[in-house]
Amino acid sequence: SSLVEQQVDPFSLVADELSLIGNRLRETVQVAGVPKLASAAGYFFEVGVEGKRFRPTVLLLMASALNVSALDTAEADQLRASQQRVAEITEMIHVASLLHDDVLDDADTRRGIPSLNSLMGNKVSVLAGDFLLCRACVTLSFIKNFEVSAVLGTAAENLIAGEMMQMASASEKHCNMDQYMQKTYYKTASLIANSCKAVALLADHGNEVAMLAYNYGRNLGLAYQLIDDVLDFTGTSASLGKGSLSDIRHGIITAPVLFATEEFPELQAVINRGFDDPANVDLALEYLHKSRGIQRAKELAIEHTNMAASAIDSFPESDDDNVRISRQALVDLTRMVITRTK
Ligand code: FPP
Ligand code: MG
Ligand code: MG
Repeated sequence: SSLVEQQVDPFSLVADELSLIGNRLRETVQVAGVPKLASAAGYFFEVGVEGKRFRPTVLLLMASALNVSALDTAEADQLRASQQRVAEITEMIHVASLLHDDVLDDADTRRGIPSLNSLMGNKVSVLAGDFLLCRACVTLSFIKNFEVSAVLGTAAENLIAGEMMQMASASEKHCNMDQYMQKTYYKTASLIANSCKAVALLADHGNEVAMLAYNYGRNLGLAYQLIDDVLDFTGTSASLGKGSLSDIRHGIITAPVLFATEEFPELQAVINRGFDDPANVDLALEYLHKSRGIQRAKELAIEHTNMAASAIDSFPESDDDNVRISRQALVDLTRMVITRTK
């Protein structure tokens, strides 16, 4: 139908629910009792610094894309409320991990404003992250679904495993493409993959559809991080709202450099010397820019977005306009991941 062929901005399709979730997130930190804790935990939920809200957008669209019309209004409302909770929990886990990440990375800025650690110190940041994680657990309990609890718990665990893998590879100075992809899955893709799966499970879809939802999130997340790693080399601090070239300066080897090393094996010796010396960073960048490393990382990202789109194409057929518009928006998001510059 003509409705489906129109280009609709994925974010505007769920704008009302995003603002509802934003309000809930600002409210949920108020239970802290201690005003300083409430403001620290709510720091990145404030209007204007909520970020792209990429994850809640994907999850709300996924909920609509998997909508089954067999439910009565009360059941449908209850399902939608649980799926909104999943979006809310996912955002809390994500922001908790960012608060801790900025401590680990000693970051000064995030989303174009001072990082919480730079403003209130590492100790408050760690506690604020812990608090958000616990709030996420309480919210999760309201869903009353063991499988959803396990799936989201696993996603949170994977964030920590990914961070540990990254730390290990930075200090051992060796990393291969398999380890990089595993780390990338843990660090970035698992949360969105498993929360997409949770949304499908709540709608009582069987394992097959739940795995398609999972695979959409997994491949979208992998592509997202691949592009993030490319932007760390090609973006500017101003456009990213955070430092650029920060990975390599911290000894973190990502896909562009791994591909460059395949082309120029002598780059491995440069990596082995470590990147404390800025001259070594420059030398590695020289190799990178004469290689096809950045291009190949983008191509790999495109492969993953194609796999994400094909998962959506494999969803059970539906002639509901709203379902089809949401599916199209999920496919459109895969294109936006590739073309984004920040
Ligand atoms: C950003 O990576 C960081 C993550 C995606 C996850 C970090 C996970 C932890 C710190 C473990 C703690 C987890 C929980 C659930 C509390 P980045 O540093 O590459 O990206 P950036 O440029 O946005 O800082
Ligand atoms: Mg960081
Ligand atoms: Mg980090």
